[in-house]
Amino acid sequence: LGDVWLNFQSTCAIIKPNAVAKGNVGAILQRIDDEGYQIILKKQGTLSQEMAAKFYEEHETQPFFQDLVDFMSSGPSVVLELQKKNSVSEWRKLIGPTDPAEARKVEINSLRALFGDDVTKNGFHGSATAEDAARELGLLLGSAGRKLKSVDRRYHNL
Ligand code: TYD
Repeated sequence: LGDVWLNFQSTCAIIKPNAVAKGNVGAILQRIDDEGYQIILKKQGTLSQEMAAKFYEEHETQPFFQDLVDFMSSGPSVVLELQKKNSVSEWRKLIGPTDPAEARKVEINSLRALFGDDVTKNGFHGSATAEDAARELGLLLGSAGRKLKSVDRRYHNL
């Protein structure tokens, strides 16, 4: 049992507001299952501006920061804790490059290629490192979970 479970790693994935708004959450969750991920936690809700800014604080000096925060708090997202062997790097591979136009060139089956609109509305987040994953999961699904305003009771308390 130890050998099987020791290799599992958590990552923080977000299905961003544009991908949720297009009604593709079901297809995306199916793909996540097909790719061998376990969904440990799942919560749907709209991020506050404060939460979005905190989540992306490393980018606060970037010119795109305010647009990014506005977009991330514009409607419901689905926040997921996913587990799989090497989930941090594997999930980033599955979502593809930051810019969906680039994703469509290099990996047509990646999630950003399939469901992303532009470099800001790119459909998905994936933690860059295991340390980032721990911070992000704590922020969005841990003690800070209540700051994610629930918009759909069917998705609450899962
Ligand atoms: P980044 O950490 O560079 O990319 P990734 O999400 O692939 O780790 O950027 C974080 C988010 O910032 C990205 O998902 C979308 C947004 N962003 C923009 O809106 N414009 C940009 O030019 C870049 C590079 C990122």
